Amino acid sequence: MDQESQQGKDGQRFVERHGRTQRLAHWWVTVFFAAAILTAPGDARGHTAVLVAHVLAATALIVGALVVLLGGDRQALAADLRALRFDDTDRAWVRSLRGKGAESRPVRWGKFNTGQKVTARALLVLVVALLLSGAFDAISGSKTIHPPLFAATMLVLAGHVFMAVVNPSTRPALRGMVRGSVDRAWARHHHPAWLDEVDPDPGSDPDPVPGP
Ligand code: HEM
Ligand code: HEM
Repeated sequence: MDQESQQGKDGQRFVERHGRTQRLAHWWVTVFFAAAILTAPGDARGHTAVLVAHVLAATALIVGALVVLLGGDRQALAADLRALRFDDTDRAWVRSLRGKGAESRPVRWGKFNTGQKVTARALLVLVVALLLSGAFDAISGSKTIHPPLFAATMLVLAGHVFMAVVNPSTRPALRGMVRGSVDRAWARHHHPAWLDEVDPDPGSDPDPVPGP
């Protein structure tokens, strides 16, 4: 099993964050999203071969993602979907933005913080809208909201990739999406309630991060 192999390899320093199913689905979507960009036709009536390649890339994105999600570790996926729901932690964080005293205290994040939940929902809606608007433009031979939807998706993705690759305090999460596990000390600081759930540890971070 993934977690055991990570523990054996990394000892106590790392804790599993994303299983094989999540990682495969994530990088599959990323690769075919990039393929759809590289094959983007300028016009629905333009070069047919380019349009066919573009539609194939988008089809591979959605079919592959569905195969991985339906055939993969459903329990882990269900847990991630639950973790993406807005809950009291998000409400406490929103209150803490304006709060004083007790209300301004940093919250203890679960697996995802409010920013990640908003990003994940926005990306899901935008990718589905891209697929539908692209199909509409291909059939009608026109150019409607597909290009502006793509621009909106790229804006959200720019923030997502910045946090994953550039921002020093969130960059350690990239290891979780590549190798599966993250540094326990980082997790305790950024996602303490999640760490308590998956890997109870007596040591607690005295200074959790205040926001997403
Ligand atoms: C995640 C999936 C997709 C991405 C990232 C994507 C991206 C793009 C981009 C960047 C363009 C160029 C826009 C411009 O010229 O300003 C484009 C054009 C186009 N795409 Fe997609 N696309 C996706 C899915 C689809 C699908 C599923 C179809 C058809 C079934 C499709 C059909 C078209 C057509 C017909 C055009 C040219 C007309 C237009 O710009 O609306 N696309 N796409
Ligand atoms: C080079 C491009 C990308 C990089 C480096 C990247 C990196 C990451 C990382 C490191 C995580 C895990 C965050 C954590 O464990 O806290 C993550 C999660 C996620 N990624 Fe990406 N990603 C990329 C592209 C994409 C694309 C194209 C999509 C969808 C269109 C996407 C959707 C998501 C979602 C929904 C999550 C879960 C929620 C979240 O943590 O924000 N990512 N990504």
